[in-house]
Amino acid sequence: MIEYALALIIGYALGSVPFGLLATKLAGLGDVRDIGSGNIGATNVLRTGRRDLAALTLIGDAGKGAAAVLIAALLWNAEAAMIAGVAAFFGHVFPVWLGFKGGKGVATFIGILLALSWPVGFGFCGVWLVVALVTRYSSLAALTAATIAPISAFFFSGPALALASFALVAVLYFTHRGNIARLLNGTESRIGNKKAA
Ligand code: G3P
Repeated sequence: MIEYALALIIGYALGSVPFGLLATKLAGLGDVRDIGSGNIGATNVLRTGRRDLAALTLIGDAGKGAAAVLIAALLWNAEAAMIAGVAAFFGHVFPVWLGFKGGKGVATFIGILLALSWPVGFGFCGVWLVVALVTRYSSLAALTAATIAPISAFFFSGPALALASFALVAVLYFTHRGNIARLLNGTESRIGNKKAA
């Protein structure tokens, strides 16, 4: 039982590290929450014009999700790994350090999926890439890939990951509510555009 509590704490702590905010602040670009969509994720970091920082943010945010899962799997078991992954996602979206106002959770979700079931993770990345290349909407790519994730999780992993993914996808829809509104009224910013909306 103690291992599940520890997995929760370690996962949340790792997930709550705001790589996008740290990268842009350390690079002297100020607070990324003051530009574009105000999100701390890689898509918004890209709006600073710094592709290297956006890549770092993507790797950091995905890496912390994967790390949480792998650490718990190594130390304990598959259940603890799942708990750590879910906790990392919530740590990213609701970080205590930022007044519980964090990122939208896409990159961290990808890292968690890759570590828990790599076919599901790669499937997510594949769908994201196709939709992003065709539409240049990062949010639409994420929402499309996320919608498919619980289904592919069910087939490639089983009901536990399908259920966990379904819950996280519900949160993703919530964090993307502004993007959804902009997609619907045609004002969503495309990848490569400096401004959001
Ligand atoms: O991963 C976040 C992405 O889906 C949307 O980002 O900054 O355009 O709201 P943003």
